[in-house]
Order: sequence, then structure tokens, then C-alpha cells
Amino acid sequence: MSLIEKLNWRYATKKFDHTKKLSAEQLESLLSAVQLAPSSMGLQPYRILVVEDAEIREQLREAGYGQQQITQASQLIVFAAETNLDEDFGKKYIDRIAEVREIGREHLAAFEQMVLASVNGQGEGEKIVWAHKQAYIALGVLLTAAADMNIDACPMEGFLAGKFDEILGLKEKGLTTSVIATIGFRAEDDSYSKLAKVRRPKSDLFIHI
Ligand SMILES: Cc1cc2nc3c(=O)[nH]c(=O)nc-3n(C[C@H](O)[C@H](O)[C@H](O)COP(=O)(O)O)c2cc1C
Repeated sequence: MSLIEKLNWRYATKKFDHTKKLSAEQLESLLSAVQLAPSSMGLQPYRILVVEDAEIREQLREAGYGQQQITQASQLIVFAAETNLDEDFGKKYIDRIAEVREIGREHLAAFEQMVLASVNGQGEGEKIVWAHKQAYIALGVLLTAAADMNIDACPMEGFLAGKFDEILGLKEKGLTTSVIATIGFRAEDDSYSKLAKVRRPKSDLFIHI
């Protein structure tokens, strides 16, 4: 299947087959793809929770307007934005670049200034919005990679973020829920899998200048 065929194959799965689980290798590959998601300046201002625990997912389903995917899917993925984007966060990122690329920190001084100007120059509210946007890019990568690997997924923003934060203890971790996705395998009788894709016509969607 070509990528376009796979993107047509995928759909926001409403009903998962709860007996089918991702293998450890499938989960690892999918998480590797998400790890590779691009982000502004490469800062990745989010963390990603892989929730398997049935009891916790039961509580989260309630906070997700009862959506059954949360408990039926193989895993629930929670994208959570960092709430403490400070100098320390920026400096740790520069340390990491120096380590991975094996270069002296002094060669990164100009880039470090840019990163620190960005974290210092934005208000707390702006930074959170920015972090949420980056988390959504990671969600996009997850959805595309899942399709490529024949794994079903449902992106979701139908949940109470405050409740999710509470149940998952995110505030103490300096995080807040951005968006979630469930991953697994479609139930054979999920009628949504048969529906034609509805998208804006290209003539309406794209503006060629
Ligand atoms: C950010 C985002 C949030 C969504 N929230 C939900 C949700 O809470 N529940 C749900 O069943 N589908 C949700 N969807 C699925 C969309 O309704 C679906 O992607 C859209 O209708 C296009 O259909 P398709 O993905 O099946 O092609 C969400 C999708 C996105 C991208």
C-alpha cells in the first residue's frame, strides 16, 4: 500500500477489538516514530504517557465523556505539555545537543541565546499554548506512523483535561494534558471503518499562489 492508500485506510477508530494488543515490537516502533516528531527549535516541550493500567483507564474514560476507546484500545497515549518551560529546560536541551553531537557547548552559544530568548520572552500562557501546539505535531506523527504500521488509532480531544491531570498526577510532574490518542486494532463491526472519507475538496483547501 502507498502512503496515500494507508492514510485512506486509517480512520478515527470508534470501536477497538479489546482482545487484540500491540506486540512489544509494534509499540516500540510506534514510540520510536513519535520520538522523531519535529518540534520548534527541537525542544519537544511535552512528555508522552503510555497508559495500560485498566483501573486508571476506567477513571480516565469517565473524564473522557465515557468514550469506550479509552478502555477498549490496546494502549492510551496521553500527550502532555510541559508547564515549566524555563531557562533550566532550555539549558538541558543545549547540554543534550552537545552530548549527542559531541561538540563543545561553546559552539552552541548563539543557538542557546535563541532558545533562552524564546523561553524567557514568552509569558506563561503563551508558552503553554506553544507547548500544546508542539504536542499536536507529535500526535500527527503518531497517527501517520500508526497507519503506516497497520495499527489503528483514534485521536481525541473529547475529555476534561483538568480531570486527566488530576487522575494522572500531572500537575506535580509539571505537565498538563494536551491531547490523547488510543491505539490498537479495529473491531470488525466498527461501522465507521466503512465510511467514505469526507475532506474539503482540494480546490477549497489549497490556495496556490
Ligand atoms: C485533535 C482531534 C481530536 C479529536 N477528538 C475526537 C474525540 O474526542 N472522539 C472521537 O471519536 N474522535 C475524535 N477525533 C476524530 C475526528 O472526528 C476524525 O479524525 C475526523 O472526523 C476525520 O475522520 P477520520 O480521522 O476517520 O478520517 C478527533 C480528531 C482530532 C484530530
